[in-house]
Amino acid sequence: MENTIDTIYDRRSVRKYIDKEVNPDLVDEILRAGMFAPSGYNKQPWEFVVFNKKEIINEIKNMHPYASSLETAPVCIMVCGDTQKELAEGFYQVDCSAAIENMVLAARALGLDTCWMGIYPWEDVMAAFSQRFSLPENIKPFALIALGYAESRQPRPKRYDSSKIHYNKW
Ligand SMILES: Cc1cc2nc3c(=O)[nH]c(=O)nc-3n(C[C@H](O)[C@H](O)[C@H](O)COP(=O)(O)O)c2cc1C
Repeated sequence: MENTIDTIYDRRSVRKYIDKEVNPDLVDEILRAGMFAPSGYNKQPWEFVVFNKKEIINEIKNMHPYASSLETAPVCIMVCGDTQKELAEGFYQVDCSAAIENMVLAARALGLDTCWMGIYPWEDVMAAFSQRFSLPENIKPFALIALGYAESRQPRPKRYDSSKIHYNKW
């Protein structure tokens, strides 16, 4: 397993996967990593819906405007926020983002790759997912994560930008 810093730098959004199943134990480990994320007042206002059936993943691909990665992904995880559990309005989005980042990094550390696809804040896309999966009123579809083994991986980009760092004043 890579060290944590290399995992962070090597994670890339992958949109093409090879035809290889993901062991359910690995999916479970990734979900566990999501649940270990920090959250406002430790409210953990997240829920996860795991899709591993090709027909449903294909259907989901057609419900989202930028979900090309679902063409080949063997697994897709929908991350939802619970408005009844968030600390205050706006927290579930932040908490779910922290969970997702943990998950995409955990996946990389386990030799898998991911693509994070936002559902929130597109109201029409959120409504379509809520309706299709009969989500309760308090459960808001937040994002999708495509998961699988990459067909190919991009090299580390150059992103460090010292002009974005401000010490002691703007
Ligand atoms: C909030 C959010 C929404 C995103 N939505 C999509 C999406 O709908 N479709 C997609 O293919 N990638 C999506 N991405 C992935 C970004 O395009 C990707 O992270 C960005 O281009 C940087 O590339 P990298 O992840 O390989 O470092 C999303 C990422 C984030 C954080």
